[in-house]
Amino acid sequence: MNPARTALITGASRGLGRALAGRLAEQGWHLLLTGRAADDLALAASELARTTEVIARAGDVADAAHRDELLAVVTGWGSLDLLVNNASTLGPTPLHRLEDLTAEALSRILAVNVVGPHALTRAMLPFLIRGGGVLLDLSSDAAVEHYETWGGYAASKAALDQLALTIGSELSGIRAYAFDPGDMRTAMHQEAFPGEDISDRPLPEEVAVPAILRLLARRPPSGRYRAEDLLAETAVEAPPEATSTASGGPA
Ligand SMILES: NC(=O)c1ccc[n+]([C@@H]2O[C@H](COP(=O)([O-])OP(=O)(O)OC[C@H]3O[C@@H](n4cnc5c(N)ncnc54)[C@H](OP(=O)(O)O)[C@@H]3O)[C@@H](O)[C@H]2O)c1
Repeated sequence: MNPARTALITGASRGLGRALAGRLAEQGWHLLLTGRAADDLALAASELARTTEVIARAGDVADAAHRDELLAVVTGWGSLDLLVNNASTLGPTPLHRLEDLTAEALSRILAVNVVGPHALTRAMLPFLIRGGGVLLDLSSDAAVEHYETWGGYAASKAALDQLALTIGSELSGIRAYAFDPGDMRTAMHQEAFPGEDISDRPLPEEVAVPAILRLLARRPPSGRYRAEDLLAETAVEAPPEATSTASGGPA
């Protein structure tokens, strides 16, 4: 019998991370989940533990001691099939124009969205390489477009894209994806649009998660992929590498 596949998902207590964890649990993956709020994370982990083996470690992805805790778990596993750098911050909300974004606020955005994920990726690379695993960095259309007040977050997502795409070109033994999930009806999205009705946006399990499962099943070349492209390709049964390596669009 093959050993269970293993995944580390940052920011898995709600939103996309939680939804993806649920689908992977149904497929028998063993999961290591993070998030800062220990109670929220414990609740998610206890729900998922009815289906599969789940380890929860509460902490901030920007905190080196927290990342060391994650490394200890994965070292115990011996290999890692999937690292999802999903935890992210918008920075101060309501979102600020760049002229009002302080150096401290931008530093925090970059620490959570870029420096922490890069440090975590470096720590996990030997384990990903061992099994030819997948690095999945959560991008945004803001990485390739520019919108008023989104500058700090957008710069961080553009930087994260560059890290994923460069690792993909440096290491042929793994797959490295920058993945744009499109708009999703989550706490982060509501925070970005305070007071607005966001009920027309799809839930993570409706578009983004099926697209990620498609990526994991097909393992196209490392690159930048958008959820909507992956699902459109599924509809016409075209190979994903034909059209989806670089693109943008409003979200
Ligand atoms: N929602 C959208 O429309 C949209 C669009 C494009 C891209 N994205 C990207 O998709 C990803 C998921 O977004 P989402 O909408 O699902 O967000 P969400 O609902 O706000 O969930 C974010 C998760 O990350 C955790 N988290 C936040 N900051 C953290 C930190 N510093 N350290 C560790 N965990 C942290 C949160 O738990 P705690 O608060 O307890 O830490 C939570 O579990 C993000 O990378 C986001 O940039 C979202």
